[in-house]
Amino acid sequence: MRIFLDTANVDQIRQAKRLGVISGVTTNPSLMFQAGRADYRAAIQEICAIESGPVSAEVLSPEAEGMVEEAREVSKWAANVAIKIPATVAGLEATSILARENIKVNFTLCFSLNQALLGALAGAAYTSLFVGRLDDIGHDGMELVKEIVEVFNKYKLSTEVIAASIRHPLHCVAAAKAGAHIATVPYNVLMQMIQHPLTSIGVTRFAEDWQRITRAEG
Ligand code: E4P
Repeated sequence: MRIFLDTANVDQIRQAKRLGVISGVTTNPSLMFQAGRADYRAAIQEICAIESGPVSAEVLSPEAEGMVEEAREVSKWAANVAIKIPATVAGLEATSILARENIKVNFTLCFSLNQALLGALAGAAYTSLFVGRLDDIGHDGMELVKEIVEVFNKYKLSTEVIAASIRHPLHCVAAAKAGAHIATVPYNVLMQMIQHPLTSIGVTRFAEDWQRITRAEG
């Protein structure tokens, strides 16, 4: 499973890149707002300069024609931009047009197998399942990821499944077990993934024991 960073905060992206574990970035208007980036184009271009893997940028038009126009414009901003298109009727139409133009679509705001299946048939490169938001309303988001991965494998659909709306490190474990191709994780969750109290205790104890040896020898 690959890991994308789910943020529009360039400092977080730079930090995460240094760790060598992320291979893409996903943004959305809420993340742009949180990062204080009203300069949409500049923000996407800055992110694309840091991350050479796919960087997802969302379109906002409600109609297919507007989505396609926006997507064509945004896809000129950098070679590695993927366009986030919502899982709606208009989104399907836009996805099928953009796929024929070789513009990578991240079919987003997906909450059902049917939505993901239609997005894949329309030619989306990725489909983003919002696991946390499903969990929030009492549905098992990760079970859905598992089912979609199984169906895509069964019918040899090439669309990659992104486990999105990740809230905590256990979601990452479950996404990997469910066979998600990608999990897009917030920076704080990425940091939590590497933490283990026994590692911290072990590092401290090795350092202390080494001090004891060197003191005894001195
Ligand atoms: C990623 O593509 C999604 O936009 C993001 O994971 C949504 O996360 P949220 O449900 O925490 O807003």
